[in-house]
Amino acid sequence: MRMPNHNIPERIGSAQHYEVLISKQEQICHRLELLADQLPDRIDTLAATTLADALYPTLRTCQDLEEAYVFPIILKWDRTLGPTVARLRAEHVEDEEHASVVAEAVTHFARSPRHADAERLGYLIRGLFQPLMRHSAFDRDIILPLYCRAGEPYS
Ligand SMILES: [Fe+2]
Repeated sequence: MRMPNHNIPERIGSAQHYEVLISKQEQICHRLELLADQLPDRIDTLAATTLADALYPTLRTCQDLEEAYVFPIILKWDRTLGPTVARLRAEHVEDEEHASVVAEAVTHFARSPRHADAERLGYLIRGLFQPLMRHSAFDRDIILPLYCRAGEPYS
């Protein structure tokens, strides 16, 4: 099994490219956790706004790559992965919807912290990053090696 080579620039759809996008998802999770820990009084409003802006596009970029390259290739390689891929797709939809709600709530909080409900925001943020962290770990530990084994386009 070939794993991503970190010494060459990633090509679109390569395992290395996929790993970079998983890493970006993981970084988003860590930034969300930090933000939740800083509520209500220690929030860096600029960092919060930047995170809110990056949230949805970061998720979509990784999910789009999975839809365009990863899922079709691993499903062609092993049809029994159908239920697993269906579960991951369902998680993507949930995460996307949740990400939009969180992004809006974070932006609102950053604009007027005194008028926002910090407890609700903390609950919303943790409700996103905990399942997203589990999803990203599954992408990294299970789907990425499968993608390498199934013959990612540059293997
Ligand atoms: Fe995913």
